[in-house]
Amino acid sequence: MANLCHHASSKHRLTIIIFFIVITLAAPGGSRSSADVAALRAFKSAIEPTSIPPNSCIATWNFSTDPCTTPRTNYFTCGVTCSGGRIIQLTLDSQGYAGKLTPLISYLTQLITLDLADNSFYGPIPASISSLSNLESLILRLNSFSGPIPPSIAALKSLKYLDLSRNSLSGSMPSMNSLAGLTRLDLSFNRFTGSLHKLPPNVKELAMKANHLSGSLIKYPFKGLTRLMTLELSENSFDGTLDSWVFSIPSLQQINLSNNSFTGIVISKPSDSELVAVDLSFNKIEGFLPTNLADFPMLRSLVLSYNRFRGPIPWQYSKKGSSLQRIYLDGNFFNGSPPAEFFSRDSPISGSLGDNCLRNCPNSSQLCLKLQKPASICRQAYGGKPRS
Ligand SMILES: *[C@@H]1O[C@H](CO)[C@@H](O)[C@H](O)[C@H]1NC(C)=O
Ligand SMILES: *[C@@H]1O[C@H](CO)[C@@H](O)[C@H](O)[C@H]1NC(C)=O
Ligand SMILES: *[C@@H]1O[C@H](CO)[C@@H](O)[C@H](O)[C@H]1NC(C)=O
Ligand SMILES: *[C@@H]1O[C@H](CO)[C@@H](O)[C@H](O)[C@H]1NC(C)=O
Repeated sequence: MANLCHHASSKHRLTIIIFFIVITLAAPGGSRSSADVAALRAFKSAIEPTSIPPNSCIATWNFSTDPCTTPRTNYFTCGVTCSGGRIIQLTLDSQGYAGKLTPLISYLTQLITLDLADNSFYGPIPASISSLSNLESLILRLNSFSGPIPPSIAALKSLKYLDLSRNSLSGSMPSMNSLAGLTRLDLSFNRFTGSLHKLPPNVKELAMKANHLSGSLIKYPFKGLTRLMTLELSENSFDGTLDSWVFSIPSLQQINLSNNSFTGIVISKPSDSELVAVDLSFNKIEGFLPTNLADFPMLRSLVLSYNRFRGPIPWQYSKKGSSLQRIYLDGNFFNGSPPAEFFSRDSPISGSLGDNCLRNCPNSSQLCLKLQKPASICRQAYGGKPRS
């Protein structure tokens, strides 16, 4: 179309414009619903008929009627929502519909919600989706989409909620810097590789769990993020040292970086942090347990299981007035005696200190139910010299 206009004379162009104005005025509700119908037809015909059960929404889509006419007694009884004669919502039931998503979806220019969750759509996410400039929710969770996220997704300026989790998407994550309205982004359980790119500036919930993301966690993609509340990057291949900026992202409440390959951690003293839960289990973090972590005023749950921490557990973790309620330090090389306050009758602490090199972990406490490591392993871990 762009090409055609480009080569047309200006007179010809005027004719085209008038043609469109006439179509626009002639269509019911003053809109181009014929384009919507064409898109919906293409959408349905891209779905394998055998995957459309008789009692499903799509089975009621009969194009001898307009999808937007009401009342909907026989046809288009579900799946489609209209407003002003235009389709604004496509929310499918979960029936195992199998097929590709037609590129003609881009004709549904008034679409606000596209939700195909929990079906069997496959193939690429069409790049033309970028024409849906009113789209606020794009939910393709639990399907079999593959290939990369089209970079054109950056043009979906109205997008608030993007859920592409549990598909087979791959490639690197495009820059989403331009998606200023996006607050929830879930790309979990796919095959994305590479490192993080610039994130949407107003994102509150970010989940990219169970992908193949790698490299160290650098600050750049997170720069300017002031509303991030949950950061879920577990089950990836991130490595390197976790720097203190991660723990001082403003507004951050929950961090899950478990099952990666981080090797170190640096944490500075918190200044009004809202952090509530931190899970760094199943990494390769070495060194002493940072005492600053105990000073986070709202931290309730700390899970550091199965790392390579060593040395004593700092007394700060058991100090009076601490917000900590769950502490999992099992599967490390902590030594010495654990702070006695953990075992006082009114201690609110639950969790585990087992599978370490601790002495005097009272077996009457559920914190010590899991046994400590054999002495030989602990001697080896501490270079043969038994330490306090
Ligand atoms: C669609 O609707 C028309 C008119 O009501 C009807 O004749 C036709 O059988 C319907 N087609 C299907 C597949 O239900
Ligand atoms: C963090 O992610 C891991 C791995 O997916 C999961 O098992 C664990 O329950 C999560 N931690 C929290 C505190 O939700
Ligand atoms: C995390 O890693 C551990 C050790 O490799 C593994 O046993 C566990 O199943 C993993 N957790 C998840 C949720 O994948
Ligand atoms: C727990 O500790 C007591 C006293 O030290 C000891 O007699 C008992 O065998 C221990 N129980 C277990 C299960 O290790």
